[in-house]
Order: sequence, then structure tokens, then C-alpha cells
Amino acid sequence: MSAITSRPIVKIVTGQPTSDGAGVRLNRVIGTADLAELDPFLMLDEFRSDQAGDYIAGFPDHPHRGFETVTYMLAGCMRHGDNQGNSGLLRPGSVQWMTAGRGIVHSEMPEQEDGLMWGFQLWVNLPARDKMTAPAYQDIDPERIPEVAPGPGVVIRVIAGDVAGVAGPVAAPATEPVYLDIALGDGAGHVQSLPAGHAGFVYVFEGTARVGGSVLQHGQLGVLGEGGAVETVAQDGPARLLLVAGRP
Ligand code: FE2
Repeated sequence: MSAITSRPIVKIVTGQPTSDGAGVRLNRVIGTADLAELDPFLMLDEFRSDQAGDYIAGFPDHPHRGFETVTYMLAGCMRHGDNQGNSGLLRPGSVQWMTAGRGIVHSEMPEQEDGLMWGFQLWVNLPARDKMTAPAYQDIDPERIPEVAPGPGVVIRVIAGDVAGVAGPVAAPATEPVYLDIALGDGAGHVQSLPAGHAGFVYVFEGTARVGGSVLQHGQLGVLGEGGAVETVAQDGPARLLLVAGRP
């Protein structure tokens, strides 16, 4: 039995297969259904394929404006470049937190011709006062993302926010985000405190997890209800999930 009162899951969403860019196959988890309670999060895509035809066309030049795009790579390499002369390589385990602000035209193209390409892209809205801010990048190498083991069978990569006093490298003052990659061994659990007032979700991308008393299967996203901490427990084997929250 759990002694804590966890935030509940108030809605469960299953990703929908779609394609974007020049024909990249992906699973759109936020962005198809109406999820107003997830403000500031506009979209979450998971891309995962070892078939080059699913990703090789990439995302040629396209614009973004008024929000932030967050790319988290698990496997494979993606080259990005923009109309301001910036470019960089996203490697496995790395994160790019891009503030599009008043506007940017960029491309995101695979830097591989075969093998597994796997990762996530999240869109985070900006408040009205920040929509016309200058474009900016935070390119974060895998080595800069701390891994914390706050309990038995639990390993957490802290991309943004704070776990057991260890802070992630991302600075995004507009939404004060929490972005955690939580790996749980079979039966292992973690209780993560979140700021009251933050909207948030859990997305299970490996295994099955019990979150706030609800069961989320692989590929399902649970919208968190109000409260403080959220409890996540692996069920029927190891599980891995994203826990993301931010100020609406
Ligand atoms: Fe983009």
C-alpha cells in the first residue's frame, strides 16, 4: 500500500500513427485530441523505426513561431540547421530545447541511412508576452544530463526539473518545466514531487506502469490531475516513461 496521495490520472490518450515532414512515420500522442488541460503542451510525437523508409525523408525547411520545440533522442542521429546559420547534431541521449520565439525556419534531417531512429518531440507553448522573443537554442549533450538513482531499481535522467536535489540542465523560465526519463525495474516505484499548479503527463514508452492508481500500457499517455507528487510503479516487468510538467 502506498502512503502518499498521488496525483490521479484524469484522462488516458493512446497515440495515433501519422506522418509529418517529408513523410516521416510517427506516433502522435498529443496533438490529435483536444487536451486543453495539458496547456502549455501542444504536441508530443514519438518516432521509432529501424526502417529507413520511415524516416529518411526527414523534416526539410519548415517554420516555427511562438512556442518551443523539445527533441529528445534515444537512438540515431539527426542534423538540424536553420536560416540564421545555426546547426548541430543530435546524438543518442541528447536534447535540443529550441525557442522558436518570433520565428525560425529550420530543417531536421536524419544523419544515417539505416538503423534505429527513436526519440520524441514535444511542443511547449509560450505565454503571450514571450511569443516574440528572439529565437534561441539549448543543445544539450548526453553527458550533461544527470542520471539519478533515488531508490532501488530506479534510474532517472533529469532533463529539466529536480530529482533528489539534482537539477537538469534545461533553463526555460516561461514554463519552469519538469522533463524526466524514468526507468523502473520490475515492481520498482518512484514518487516525484511536482509544483502545485503545473499541468503534466506521463507517457509510457516501454512496458506497463501504474501511475496514480491507473494502469498505462506502452504507448499510452496519462494526463495528471491536480495535486502535488505523482507516484509511478512498474508493473509486470520493467517500464520506462516520460514525466513532463510545466506551468500553464
Ligand atoms: Fe521543426
